[in-house]
Amino acid sequence: MKPTPSSKLSSLPPYLFVRLHALKLQAQAAGHDIIDLGQGSPDLPSPPNVVAALKRAIDQPWTHRYPQTQGQPQLRVAIADWYQRRFGVTLDPESEVLPLVGSKEGLAHLFMALLEPGQGVLVPNPCYPVHYNGVILAGGKAHLMPLREKLGFKPDLGAIPAAEAEGSKVLLLNYPNNPTGAVLEDLSLLERALVFSREHGCLIAYDNAYSELCFDGYKAPSILQLRGAKEHAVEFHSLSKTYSMAGWRIGFAVGNANAIAQLGKFKGFLDYGIPGFIQQAAIEALTGPQDCVAAAAQAYQRRRDVLIKALAAIGWKVPVPRATMYLWARLPERAGKMGSLEFAERLILEHGLVMTPGVGFGPHGEGFVRISLIADDRELEQAAQRVGRFLKKL
Ligand SMILES: Cc1ncc(COP(=O)(O)O)c(C=O)c1O
Repeated sequence: MKPTPSSKLSSLPPYLFVRLHALKLQAQAAGHDIIDLGQGSPDLPSPPNVVAALKRAIDQPWTHRYPQTQGQPQLRVAIADWYQRRFGVTLDPESEVLPLVGSKEGLAHLFMALLEPGQGVLVPNPCYPVHYNGVILAGGKAHLMPLREKLGFKPDLGAIPAAEAEGSKVLLLNYPNNPTGAVLEDLSLLERALVFSREHGCLIAYDNAYSELCFDGYKAPSILQLRGAKEHAVEFHSLSKTYSMAGWRIGFAVGNANAIAQLGKFKGFLDYGIPGFIQQAAIEALTGPQDCVAAAAQAYQRRRDVLIKALAAIGWKVPVPRATMYLWARLPERAGKMGSLEFAERLILEHGLVMTPGVGFGPHGEGFVRISLIADDRELEQAAQRVGRFLKKL
């Protein structure tokens, strides 16, 4: 028996990071010691008070039972309180907060909960892969909004063809942006998005996974800070980046009560939510001391500066992002006509250095690579030297 994949599944190539991992193993087998700046998986340890809270919680047998999809009431309150402190926005923990098994899960399931077959979603491109793949797996149609460097990697909402604007159920936005590192300098794009949402009757799904990883004094906004935004928007957050808890699998959605209810209903058929002991630890993360958050942002900022300097020294000038944990770099001139996939594959196989090819984030990512700041300063400097050796050989 050889089951064939559904047409939705077969229309997608294997998940990018699965493919990069296979190349990495190949390079390792060939004797390279690997520097992995591929996936955005924080290397910083989870905060010790959170780890201690997990250890305490796991000793309590009630946390071993099936959790509720909606999450523990205490966790929903902790999320609402965190939101109030961070953004000055009041949320009803009962109807406007939904814990998630990571925001990736929530984003993918939102599309499945909302879309009719073939229905449109306006998706930025390049994008975090689930913004696109989630739509396809939900049987929807992704209408790509190019993020161009000359527009600061912001979509031009005015340029969206009328049929796509009318036919789309969701408008997805993500700032601070993965992969480009772009941030919102002001609220004008969000204001325009709300007008667009009112005009065309689509929900805004705002991915704010990197809201806390900001540099040089920049502070990322929430779309829910805009007047009336709860009518139109649901926002996604992740503890993966904020508290370096990527492997724990916990995030949350907040905002529009209808979207939260539909996502919660859909998830109720699929999952039991987050293990109870992880929820208890997440409460500690959100309500305990927050210096770990500033410390993580500072660490990424320092690494950003170290790597940008080291890359400049080998002749590769890379823009300075004000948030996220990524550099988004145009391929160096010496790479000539090489595509981003070939560039990244050769770096892995010939030099044991993993970066993510821009095209892996969609067609508008071609010509770029994304470099994750997930190694210490020394390794980042070594990474730049490896790029230097690679470019010299070309
Ligand atoms: C923009 C963006 N949204 C969501 C996620 C998923 O985060 P989580 O670990 O909460 O599923 C990521 C992970 O890299 C991301 O870059």
